[in-house]
Amino acid sequence: RAAQAPNLVAAVSEARQWDRIAQMARLGGFTDADGHQGVNRAALTKLDREARRLLLSWAAPLGLKPSVDVLGNLFLRHEGTEPAAAPVMAGSHMDSQPNGGRFDGIWGVLAALEAVQAIREAGIATKRPIEIVAWTNEEGGRFAPGCMGSMAWSGHRPPDTWNDTLDGEGLRFGDELAALLASEADIPRRGLGIVEGPRPFAYVEPHIEQGPLLEAEGLDIGVVTGIQGSRWFLVEIEGKTDHAGTAPLSLRQDAVQDMVRVINALNALMADPTDILRFTVGRIEVSPNSSNTVADRARFTIDFRHPDPAVLLPKGDAIEATVKGALTRCRATVTERFHALPARFDPLVQDLIEGAAAAQGLRSRRMPSGAFHDAQFLVPICPTGMIFIPSRGGVSHHPAEFSTPAQLANGARVLAQVLVDLANR
Ligand code: GLV
Ligand code: MN
Ligand code: MN
Ligand code: MN
Repeated sequence: RAAQAPNLVAAVSEARQWDRIAQMARLGGFTDADGHQGVNRAALTKLDREARRLLLSWAAPLGLKPSVDVLGNLFLRHEGTEPAAAPVMAGSHMDSQPNGGRFDGIWGVLAALEAVQAIREAGIATKRPIEIVAWTNEEGGRFAPGCMGSMAWSGHRPPDTWNDTLDGEGLRFGDELAALLASEADIPRRGLGIVEGPRPFAYVEPHIEQGPLLEAEGLDIGVVTGIQGSRWFLVEIEGKTDHAGTAPLSLRQDAVQDMVRVINALNALMADPTDILRFTVGRIEVSPNSSNTVADRARFTIDFRHPDPAVLLPKGDAIEATVKGALTRCRATVTERFHALPARFDPLVQDLIEGAAAAQGLRSRRMPSGAFHDAQFLVPICPTGMIFIPSRGGVSHHPAEFSTPAQLANGARVLAQVLVDLANR
C-alpha cells in the first residue's frame, strides 16, 4: 500500500465538490411542498444530456479525455505513467429517481472527479490510468430495469436487449439512446466494456448510504461488503371490461379484484419472520382506469430482494405459480425483467477503504448494501468495492435526501487515497 499522501487530503475541496452538487441539482431540480430540494433527471432526457455536458465542461480544463460507448456510458480518463496498464475505474450514475434527491448517483461521479482533480493538483503520478465512469440508466425509473449501462458493459446482457423497452410516454429506449449518442458525436467512441475492450484493474463506487446506520452510529464511512440479490418482475392480468352498475359480480372478469388476490397470495409467499426479505409492489396500472367500469387489465411490478441465493432463487421462481394459482376468472403473464445475484466485494478493496479512512482519522464500519448499484455487475469482472457516507435520517429516493458538504468531502478524500493505492499496484 502506498504511503499516505498528506497533500492529497488537502487537495480535495469540500467547497468545489458542494458547488458542483448544487449546479447539477439545478438540472431537474424542484422544491417539494415541505421545502426539500429534489431532482427529477431521468436517463436519456434533455436534462441528462445537459448534466453530461456540464460534467464534460469540468473535465476538459483538467485534461481528462472523454469517451462514450454504444450504451452511452461516459468515461473521463486520467493518464497513468504506464498508459498500457489496466485502468482503475471509479464512478456511479447521473440519472435520478422521478422524485429523487440531489445525491443518489451523481455524487459518486462528482466524488470521482474531485478525487482525480485532487490527485492531479497534489502532483501525484499514478502508474495506472484512472477512468471516471457515469453509467447509463442506473435507476430504471423511466426505462426499467436499472443498471442497463453496467449490465451491457460487463457482458451480463447483450447491448440490444432493451431497444424496444418503452417509457411511460411510449418512447423507445433504442431511439432515445440513439438520440443521445447523435448529440454526443463530438465525443470519441470506445468499445463496449470487457466485451470489446480491456478489463479494468479495479472498480470503486462511492455512494450515499441511503439508510440510517452510519448516522445512527456516528460514523463517517461505510466499507461496503456486498449487495443483496434483486429480482424484478412484471405481472400483467387480463380480464374483461363491464358496466359497474349492471354486470353481476358473479359474472365479472375483474382484473383489479384478481390483482388483489394475487398480491395477497404473494404476500403470503414472501412472509419472512426474520424481516430480511424485501418485497415491494411499487407500480400499478389499471385500464381503462375509470371509476364506473370494471377493469380489463391490471399490471404491477414486483421488486424482490434477499442476500441469500437459497431464498432469492426458489422464492423468485415460485412467483409465477403463485400468481396463476390465485387468479379466479382472469389470465396473467409474469415476466422477469431484472435478475442480479447477491454480490460480495473484494477483500483487498475493502481493506484499502478501511485503511484510508483510519489514516484520515475517520471512523468506519463494514456494512452490506440493501440498494443495488452498478458495482454489482463489476464484481465478476475485477476487484470491486463501494464507499458509503451517511444519509440524514436514512432518507433516499426522496427530495429530503441529504448529506453534509463535510461528509461528502470525507468520502471523496477516502476515494482519492484508495485510487492512488490501487493505481500504483
Ligand atoms: C437502486 O436504486 C435500487 O433500487 O436499489
Ligand atoms: Mn444510486
Ligand atoms: Mn437510486
Ligand atoms: Mn440505485
